[in-house]
Amino acid sequence: MITICPSILSADFSRLAEEIHNVDAGGADCIHLDLMDAHFVPNLTFGPAVIKALRPCTKLPFDAHLMVEHPETYIDGLAAAGVQYITVHQEACVHLDRVLQQIREAGIKCGVALNPATPVATLSCVAADLDMILIMSVNPGFGGQKFIPYALDKILEAKELLAACGNTRAVIEVDGGVNQETAQAVKDAGATFLVAGSAVFGAKNRSAAIASLR
Ligand code: DX5
Ligand code: ZN
Repeated sequence: MITICPSILSADFSRLAEEIHNVDAGGADCIHLDLMDAHFVPNLTFGPAVIKALRPCTKLPFDAHLMVEHPETYIDGLAAAGVQYITVHQEACVHLDRVLQQIREAGIKCGVALNPATPVATLSCVAADLDMILIMSVNPGFGGQKFIPYALDKILEAKELLAACGNTRAVIEVDGGVNQETAQAVKDAGATFLVAGSAVFGAKNRSAAIASLR
């Protein structure tokens, strides 16, 4: 089953509640929330307070992608805001095992994101306990970038890594440049969570865009 996760990074920030209603009605499965701190990535977005304000807009799960330094300082706020997934970047975590434990203890599903140049093998020690591996198919920070094709090989490697450690529950998510041209290859490689910012929010008909990605 494919889970389509529109990223509100490409939504109209002056009308976020309406934008979320619109993709919910259009068949989205999950809402992807890009937290950026202007340090880990050269862009700044929103944090737990905004997410908490958006929580009543939909019953869909909230998938928080933390492109921030010191992600451990955001976990309690995100738990209180009502998110279902928290994904931290491998490159941002000196104490990756500890922050994953912290997420699990908060009762939230935990994921690790990998920048394009970070090998999948860096997750070998933690893979058995993950709920999600997020393969970045662009360099994080901005919507609307071009899909990096070698991300497809990394989806296959992530699938093999999860199988090798007997983790049958974790999903593989892909984020960046996922659109009507690239979605099929991403699904064929084995990803089941597809993040799409511009391909959904840039489309006039969001429900048709979501259906065509699926
Ligand atoms: C980029 C973000 C993405 C972004 C994707 O750093 O993590 O979630 O919204 O945007 P598109 O789908 O336009 O590449
Ligand atoms: Zn993202």
